[in-house]
Amino acid sequence: MNIKSIITQAIQQSLLLHNIKTNINISVQISPKHYSWDYQCSNIIQISTIEKINPYTFAKKIVSTINLHYMCSKIEASTKGFINFFISNQWIENTFKEILYSPKIGVNTQKQQTIVVDYSSPNIAKEMHVGHLRSTIIGDSIVKHLEFLGHRVIRANHIGDWGTQFGMLIAFFEETYKKNPNDFKLTDFNNFYQKAKKKFSIDLNFANKSRKYVLKLQTGNKHCTTIWKKIVNITIKKNQKIYEALKVSLKTQHIIGESFYHNMLAVIVKDLLEKKIAVVINKSVIVFLNQFKNRQGAPMGVVIQKSDGAYLYSTIDIACLKYRYQQLHADRILYYTDSRQKQHLEQVIIIAKKAGYIPLDFKLEHHIFGMVLSKNKRPFKTRDGKTIRLNLLIHESKKRAKKIILEKNPKITKNELKKLSEIIGIGAMKYADLSKNRVTNYIFDWDSMLKFEGNTAPYIQYAYVRIISIFKKIKKISLSSKLTFTITNDYERKLAIKILQFEEIIIQVIKDGTPHIMCTYLYELSVLFSKLYTSYSILSSKDDKALQSKLKLLFLISKILKKGLLMLGIKVINQM
Ligand code: ARG
Repeated sequence: MNIKSIITQAIQQSLLLHNIKTNINISVQISPKHYSWDYQCSNIIQISTIEKINPYTFAKKIVSTINLHYMCSKIEASTKGFINFFISNQWIENTFKEILYSPKIGVNTQKQQTIVVDYSSPNIAKEMHVGHLRSTIIGDSIVKHLEFLGHRVIRANHIGDWGTQFGMLIAFFEETYKKNPNDFKLTDFNNFYQKAKKKFSIDLNFANKSRKYVLKLQTGNKHCTTIWKKIVNITIKKNQKIYEALKVSLKTQHIIGESFYHNMLAVIVKDLLEKKIAVVINKSVIVFLNQFKNRQGAPMGVVIQKSDGAYLYSTIDIACLKYRYQQLHADRILYYTDSRQKQHLEQVIIIAKKAGYIPLDFKLEHHIFGMVLSKNKRPFKTRDGKTIRLNLLIHESKKRAKKIILEKNPKITKNELKKLSEIIGIGAMKYADLSKNRVTNYIFDWDSMLKFEGNTAPYIQYAYVRIISIFKKIKKISLSSKLTFTITNDYERKLAIKILQFEEIIIQVIKDGTPHIMCTYLYELSVLFSKLYTSYSILSSKDDKALQSKLKLLFLISKILKKGLLMLGIKVINQM
């Protein structure tokens, strides 16, 4: 159900009836909380200016031919030239009947696109830390929204499993675990990486050996490849545990890491040289881009092959883009990566366009996100200034949730406590992140994210529990298809309209990858439900008809809360 698009189409038709052709996209908005109308079109005013007609006269003219009387009780032109739409109660009630048992709660499937979502993408032999949290959970949430609308989503975990650092890691591994390679468990990745790096910088022999190993690895030497695989596999295994704990849908089959593109790199460099997009300078292969200037104001050079033959991060991303477009047939590619990689991705996409690997109008959708801060507004770090490992956060979230649940329900069984603390703890942490506009920084604060009031996951989960408990109390009563939903007060009307807006919200979320829109929506739905809940007793409805009507409304609210949270990667609970 998409009221917005029904209204938009009706306005477009009305314009056509008046022979008005315009390039301006008709934009229709949902009414903010305190207005009496439900939807508004604001840019008729713009068209009236072009047509040189008084906005009010123009809006009235358009209103006179809008064919929406089956859906609206009133359509009015405001003196300023806005058009306001009032949805009729009867239409809402009838539409409720249609969506009550629909598996997708009335949400239409979109024309299917193939969409690659590049997210999480940690580097090998490094611990996943709080910086990966946002990419991983925002990306995963977007994937779920896209799939719900029927798109073909390709999850791409572009792990950093290739590059010159592997020479040093292999050499260090060899030295440390020569006698007992099976001792290599890597409980502390960062330590291993740092030690290797340090040795590389002070020990010349070690550094030379490392360089040799890079080449050996790149040319398929068996010894180096075996060690490389070991290091990669151990990291993947460890990260997989984190994904499972975070309830993120990434599986090992979604890994298409940097090494996957290795064999394509020489071809890319050769092709860019042949097409005269790249040039050789001092044995390095470079692409100069006019769109970017270096410090001297000259076109900036992007190195795609170093003088020693090594390829770079950019070379891999050019090959990757080509592959995603030409082989995977991606209609959209969404990158959930650090904002510091903005320039890198912009350069890659320009080069790929120049080379004709992707069409000129292909859009770069780099969905950046702000930083996670601690309460003192500095980057969220441990006391001694180290990055905070994700494992630690996961553990802490469960511990804190456990404490809160026990306070509320001391008699809870051990099993139940374990289950609930996982769902509530992890859910709260994810929601705190997802509910902020992704481009802003946010403060990581355990206390506020685990609160049962305000815009938090526990608040929404609690609203769900309350509805479920009503249904539990009236076990014997089933939803009757004869007795329908009838609006009896303003809360019910507001809730009902909100339910019908679910699809519009999902579409907004996937447009620019902004799950906070879903969070706000679910929060507002829960607030309205709480108001309804305290305004009258649902169970003491005066007759069967009234009870059935209310139950239908609650049933749909619960379905949306559950599905909406699931798209955020958060589960509901049936009891607290
Ligand atoms: N591995 C990179 C990092 O940790 C992120 C990769 C993002 N994806 C890409 N196609 N470059 O910063």
